[in-house]
Amino acid sequence: MIICSCAVIRQEELREVTRKLYRSNPGAPITPNRVYRALGKSPTCMDCAPLLTLRIYATAQEVIVAEGLLRGDAHPRRIK
Ligand code: FES
Repeated sequence: MIICSCAVIRQEELREVTRKLYRSNPGAPITPNRVYRALGKSPTCMDCAPLLTLRIYATAQEVIVAEGLLRGDAHPRRIK
């Protein structure tokens, strides 16, 4: 699924970059700006902003829970 058609950001690409950003700095929020910068892309129209933001939060939640489970956390941290 393509999330941003201007910069051509796919769901799989978003998942990879979210994982990379989370591992590099677990305490920092994952924002659309950080995602674009990490991918080396830039937005044009920002029509995708609402969907991109929702997908970033959903993907970050998945990544954080998965990373917590892999670390052996009994109760993985969740985004509030
Ligand atoms: S659709 Fe994402 S910047 Fe245009």
